[in-house]
Amino acid sequence: MKFFVDTADIKEIKELNDLGMLDGVTTNPSLILKSGGNILDVTRQICEIVQGPVSAEVTATDYDGMMREAKVLAAIADNIAIKVPLTWDGLRACRALRAEGRMVNVTLCFSANQALLAAKAGATFISPFIGRIDDMGIDGVELISEIRAIYDNYDFKTEILAASVRTVNHVKQVAMIGADVATVPPATLKALVKHPLTDKGLEAFLADWAKTGQKIG
Ligand code: E4P
Repeated sequence: MKFFVDTADIKEIKELNDLGMLDGVTTNPSLILKSGGNILDVTRQICEIVQGPVSAEVTATDYDGMMREAKVLAAIADNIAIKVPLTWDGLRACRALRAEGRMVNVTLCFSANQALLAAKAGATFISPFIGRIDDMGIDGVELISEIRAIYDNYDFKTEILAASVRTVNHVKQVAMIGADVATVPPATLKALVKHPLTDKGLEAFLADWAKTGQKIG
């Protein structure tokens, strides 16, 4: 499973990229707002750090507007994936952008039928928002299973990008189902390495090692 980080925070992106764990980045208008920067500057900086797909979202809601904005965003770098909303205009833009050879991430997916439409529109990525479904008291992870089954039934090549990931358990669950990508907030991505028994075990090894009085090298 590929790891994307769900942020527009340059410092966090640099740090995770240096760890060698980053396969891509997803941003959205809310994350751009949080970054405090200009969308074009911030996205350009991200693309200079990360080689994998960097999702940048259009804000127009009509087909023509989306295509106009997509052109501006795509000019930033070759690794831009244009993010379009899961609406008829978004799906139409998806098909047209794919015909131009662009990567497209269809976002704000909350149902298996929506994901089916995105695959039929040739999306590179479909982004089901599992955390926001959980927030409604419905199991968001179940949606990933449904989409996996549908895509496998028909051999759709669209990659399932589990989004709105909130917990380390979400990461494990979507990996077990076979999501192609999880886009994860920086803090959750960093928390994946943590286990109290690892810390405890390391502490004990170091204590015993100190008693040997030895040094390696
Ligand atoms: C995905 O691409 C979205 O940017 C993101 O995962 C949304 O997450 P949220 O529901 O935590 O805002």
